[in-house]
Amino acid sequence: MQLKERQILDHMAALSDPYRCRLLFLLEDRELTVSDLCAVMQLPQSTVSRHLKTLGDRGWVESRPDGPRRLYRATGDGLGESAQKLWELTRDEVLETSWCQSDRRRLESVLARRRSRSQEFFDASGAGWDSLRDDLFGSTFHLAALMALMPGASVVGDLGCGTGTVIETLAPFVRTLIGVDSSDAMIAAASARLRRFDNVELRPGELTALPIDDAVLDMATLMLVLHHLECPEAAIAEASRATKPGGRILIVDMLPHDRAEYRQEMGHVWMGFSREKIERYLSDAGFGETHFVALPPAPEAKGPELFAVSAKKREK
Ligand SMILES: C[S@@+](CC[C@H](N)C(=O)[O-])C[C@H]1O[C@@H](n2cnc3c(N)ncnc32)[C@H](O)[C@@H]1O
Repeated sequence: MQLKERQILDHMAALSDPYRCRLLFLLEDRELTVSDLCAVMQLPQSTVSRHLKTLGDRGWVESRPDGPRRLYRATGDGLGESAQKLWELTRDEVLETSWCQSDRRRLESVLARRRSRSQEFFDASGAGWDSLRDDLFGSTFHLAALMALMPGASVVGDLGCGTGTVIETLAPFVRTLIGVDSSDAMIAAASARLRRFDNVELRPGELTALPIDDAVLDMATLMLVLHHLECPEAAIAEASRATKPGGRILIVDMLPHDRAEYRQEMGHVWMGFSREKIERYLSDAGFGETHFVALPPAPEAKGPELFAVSAKKREK
């Protein structure tokens, strides 16, 4: 007998039992455990396991471990065209039988119980979910994940990059990053920190005379920088020159505050910025579609409140 003939007879033997057809029908589009199958088919575990073994040995069912149990599912098209045709023919007949329809109803209730177990878990954990989430995955992964919304092919300029905090966050998500800073110490710290990235370029330079050609950047960021500058509007105009029409700018800085000691302690020139002032600077520099948000203060933060404002460079 030819191999092909033997195979089809083997497949027919696998399907020549109503329990095995019921199992295949149940496992067609989903993974179930032996105890799920016992509950749906109302059969003892030994019967279900025996038939699963026959189907598994002949390649009709596959399984994988899931903690202490195994999940089973039908192999589907993996078994070849003739087996698939044979199953489609058998399945059409099986579907009409009364036991198949009862299986289907009981399957619905097994699946509903499974869904409600997960719902019960969330109902019971309630506020506890936050600490479990932090324990499992850390408290800030979602912020990094949101960076994946950035267009991946972008060129981003971080202007006044300091030690490279912003660049480190963005580097996995964008094509090229250019960091500019006038402090040699900051550039040295940033280059040590960002050594592992090959898409980052650090350039010493002034924010009012950026070492970046015209219309190169898809996005410019100025984070906690403007309050150090005598003329913040000149830095925004310079960022605009380096940004492509249609590109964006993001500024994060302090809202107006009264911490006069920051002038002495940290060389602040401005005690924060009002929304009106920043929006005027942006508009004068050729940016529109401004979106200004006062950031929710972090519980551990001791400094003044911050704002974030983003805007789009006008196309002219
Ligand atoms: C407060 S730090 C913020 C650094 C970084 N953006 C961050 O969020 O951590 C301000 C940075 O701006 C840089 N800076 C200040 N004035 C500058 C200027 N005129 N040109 C270029 N960089 C300047 C400083 O060297 C410093 O690294």
